[in-house]
Amino acid sequence: AKYTWVEKDTCIACGACGATAPDIYDYDDEGIAEVIYEGDNNRGITEIPEDLYDDLQDAADGCPTDSIKVADEPFNN
Ligand code: F3S
Repeated sequence: AKYTWVEKDTCIACGACGATAPDIYDYDDEGIAEVIYEGDNNRGITEIPEDLYDDLQDAADGCPTDSIKVADEPFNN
């Protein structure tokens, strides 16, 4: 299983992740990214389905500040 959240303190609102993986990431009022998948609300506790793994990986790889966190276990935010 895969889980993800955005370290909002280091996100520079570059906008890449929401373009790459719009089902997983969107932006708050300041343009800072957050996980919106299935109401996760950037907690990193919602399992991301396998058909979104490619998007997930591309978004994580493409973030210029490494703000996208991905793990096999739920996060404890
Ligand atoms: Fe922020 Fe990285 Fe997305 S800088 S907008 S989390 S690609």
